[in-house]
Amino acid sequence: MQKVVIERYAKRQMAKLGWHGWPHVKRVQRLCSRLSKGLKDVDYEVVEVSALLHDIGKYMEKESNALDHGRISAEMAEEFLHSIEFDVEKVKAVCHAIRVHTHGEEPHSLEAKLLHDADMLDKMGAVGIATIFIKACLVGTTIEEAAESWQNPSKGSFVGLHALWLQKPHFYTKTAGNLAKRRNRIVYAFFKQLEKEIELADAQVKA
Ligand SMILES: [Fe+2]
Ligand SMILES: [Fe+2]
Repeated sequence: MQKVVIERYAKRQMAKLGWHGWPHVKRVQRLCSRLSKGLKDVDYEVVEVSALLHDIGKYMEKESNALDHGRISAEMAEEFLHSIEFDVEKVKAVCHAIRVHTHGEEPHSLEAKLLHDADMLDKMGAVGIATIFIKACLVGTTIEEAAESWQNPSKGSFVGLHALWLQKPHFYTKTAGNLAKRRNRIVYAFFKQLEKEIELADAQVKA
């Protein structure tokens, strides 16, 4: 029953961010479930609720880039979970996982590490490529500029930051690291081909 209420609240909050918000949360939820599989000493409920609520305050970053949506989402989650009388100890564990998923501080629980890794995995692979170009569209970046950001990534732009995540991902769990390696093969192949097509290196005409 509580899960239904939490899911409904999370979906409503993610709609404020945009159409792409909720599908991301559902992918992170599935990845959390996959990464947790077979692990001992994991509170599955904490991991799942953390996944559902981890970005509920992200829409506020549209107003100000200086905000940390991990911290804001954790504060909102705390208030909401108390309002539905969610287990007090679990609220603390969920809020820790949410607060640290934006890299402000190190996770100190397995649940927080799993949420971090699931969220990072959703930036990798084919989904990562698709996300880069959605971001490129949102900020008016051309295909050529996105290709350039891949070659010379920097934190100065959305696309450049995403390229950095893809090229130097950080994971706490081995399963996530291995899955990221497999997912990212397509990314390197894609950008190599993109570069070729832009330079017409794939269409040399014989003299
Ligand atoms: Fe996030
Ligand atoms: Fe996220």
